[in-house]
Amino acid sequence: MKKYLVIGNPIEHSLSPKLQNYWIKNHNIHAIYEKEKLNEDELKKLFLNIRDKKINGVNVTVPFKKTVIPFLDKLTAEAESTQAVNTIYLENNKIIGHNTDIDGFELGIKKINYDIFNKKIFILGAGGVAPSIIYALNKLKVSEITIANRTREKAENLKNLFGKLKIVEWGEIPDFDMIINATSIGLKKDDEINLNFSSIGKNKFFYDVIYNPKETNFLKKGKNLGNATENGKLMFIYQAISAFNIWHGVKPIVNDEVIKLLD
Ligand code: ATR
Repeated sequence: MKKYLVIGNPIEHSLSPKLQNYWIKNHNIHAIYEKEKLNEDELKKLFLNIRDKKINGVNVTVPFKKTVIPFLDKLTAEAESTQAVNTIYLENNKIIGHNTDIDGFELGIKKINYDIFNKKIFILGAGGVAPSIIYALNKLKVSEITIANRTREKAENLKNLFGKLKIVEWGEIPDFDMIINATSIGLKKDDEINLNFSSIGKNKFFYDVIYNPKETNFLKKGKNLGNATENGKLMFIYQAISAFNIWHGVKPIVNDEVIKLLD
């Protein structure tokens, strides 16, 4: 039986096993997908197990999306450009690192038919998921991307990676059509982002990468101000579909049952 894993720290909250095992069962695949909390000094052993084919594929989440890179034989173009890996697989005995968060964001936006072309985007946060979103936004041809991060240096690092990014101070709000919360603020139900949105007006799009809780205070605030909102559930589902397709050669469909599975 093939074995797949999601690694991270913490990892208890991960819904990847639920989703991947649901599709594994649905497609009659002889495999199991588990979660494992790791410390950084355990990565070496993990990669020996991948090389020995004791583990056939891995999803990577916070805080290892960058840390795993030195252990890999090859990065795909997407992983290289974002310096972030969320999916690992073996190909011709080489361990490959890929990034399906990009697909996740892009396909999630397409699924809800949001017309993102030429829009001004404001991203909050410069952590693990931010480079994937920026890569996808560039692919989708937005007109400009502005980013604010509490630790400015991390926003500067992203500018070095991608070039045409604008940086504003944390707390400053530029003109935008779509605002994306890519921080971890909101994972706890009572978390509040201390930004003043009162003067932004309506007809904006508030997007939160967080999908659990379903509606963060950030999305509540956006909605109360008369804006459209969307959480990160579809992004999560589509990044999982892309990983599943790489490992098993099948693309599961998104239906109500799958969406409900994650409620
Ligand atoms: P990492 O920072 O290790 O990449 P992450 O969960 O991927 O972890 O990213 C967390 C993001 O949320 C970061 O952008 C972080 O800002 P810093 O780079 O300044 O740490 C942001 N974040 C978390 N808590 C925050 C808070 N209370 N106020 C503002 N930003 C916060």
